[in-house]
Amino acid sequence: MNKLYIEGNKNLNGNVRISGSKNAALPILFMTILTEEKIKISNIPQLTDITIAIELLKSLGAKIKYRKKLLCIDTSSIKNFSPPYDLTKKIRASIWMLAPLLIRFGQAKISLPGGCKIGSRPIDLHIKGLIQLGAKIVLEKNYISASIRKPLVGKHIYIKKISVGATITIMSAAALAQGTTIIENAAQEPEIIDIAKFLNTLGANIIGAGSNKIFIKGVIKLTGGKHQIIPDRIETGTFLIAAAVSQGYITCCHTEPKNLKKVLIKLSESGAKIKTGKDWIQLDMRGKKPKSINVSTSPYPGIPTDMQPQFTLLNSISQSKGVITENIFENRFIYVSELIKMGAQIKIKNNSIICKGVTNLYSQNVFSNDLRGSATLVLAGCIARGITIVNNIYHFKRGYELFSEKLNKLGANIKYI
Ligand code: EPZ
Repeated sequence: MNKLYIEGNKNLNGNVRISGSKNAALPILFMTILTEEKIKISNIPQLTDITIAIELLKSLGAKIKYRKKLLCIDTSSIKNFSPPYDLTKKIRASIWMLAPLLIRFGQAKISLPGGCKIGSRPIDLHIKGLIQLGAKIVLEKNYISASIRKPLVGKHIYIKKISVGATITIMSAAALAQGTTIIENAAQEPEIIDIAKFLNTLGANIIGAGSNKIFIKGVIKLTGGKHQIIPDRIETGTFLIAAAVSQGYITCCHTEPKNLKKVLIKLSESGAKIKTGKDWIQLDMRGKKPKSINVSTSPYPGIPTDMQPQFTLLNSISQSKGVITENIFENRFIYVSELIKMGAQIKIKNNSIICKGVTNLYSQNVFSNDLRGSATLVLAGCIARGITIVNNIYHFKRGYELFSEKLNKLGANIKYI
């Protein structure tokens, strides 16, 4: 069943429990390769990308038990440093096996990663960082072959473009390098902080994660340990927008308000009443149409690119005209044509989406193409007039745990067909 049948015209109200962060859990899972001791990770979301990551680790020889969000992993029996092509190709996150396998075995061979088709998604910054630390890298056809003849040596590395992925790759390699590595122009996302916290739990010596300058003092080896994954800030933002576009009233529980500061400011600008507590965010948009807002995506602490489609939906049914500019990925507008099919009035100009708000969207047979775009189409179906069919829903199942079930608890009426 790869389609959703969505009854529209719904207000979404109630409480929703936010799951663990996909973009923290995926790199952390692959970092377990760096140690031969047992590790326990809690709050791991049940997602297809996580399932693929577990399959990849098992294909290398890891022993994994995963039940009710708790994952126990023992990588001591890993023997293989070249994961299967067909699985590696499925997710972008598989690039984060490269550095740990290289450190563990002195060599690694992985295929170029997959992931959402939202741009070319090069890996040059990952490769440059590893070469600066002393790795030999050969790119041939669809594979990256890496090798080291002696332990990596810490360096002062300036990443020329802010990259979450490259920051993570370099941090994981530097954790067991000789000497100190400084990463300048590092990504500052909350997931980077969570990964550094995880590695430090295993005995690494990383300070400055969350700032644009990270100091990593290499250690000889890492031990085992326990870690709880941070809440998913993008899932949180997606549910807040679900309430904002449906004139609803929602409380997101088990989340982290401080990781969504700029998103909450923009939602308040659109007329939502926002309240926050230690681990919850409440949004009240009852009886109100959102005001249009202008948004420009940027690396954290800016507005996340992963919230760009959701803000476009908000502007599509707002009171006037709003502009959303995408500055991170060069091809993240595929979902827009599907929203236009539903009656949205949107023009694309270079890397900006200009929306003229309409009173209603209308049901349609729409096609998902990437993770955040497909979640946005599901929300559009919940508020459109009539019955909307969303196809290729495997996209959103990659990154949202029990998405339609959580929406149905808020008053949606969504069925798999
Ligand atoms: C991570 O992707 C996330 N994915 C993305 O979330 C997120 O949108 C992105 O970070 C930005 O925040 C995961 O964590 C699995 P980048 P990543 O390296 O690491 C360019 C989602 O929906 N770049 O920060 O691939 C790149 O093309 C996904 O959950 C290079 O040029 O993103 C992009 O323009 C989508 N060379 C920019 O940098 C490189 O070597 C930022 O990419 C690497 C990246």
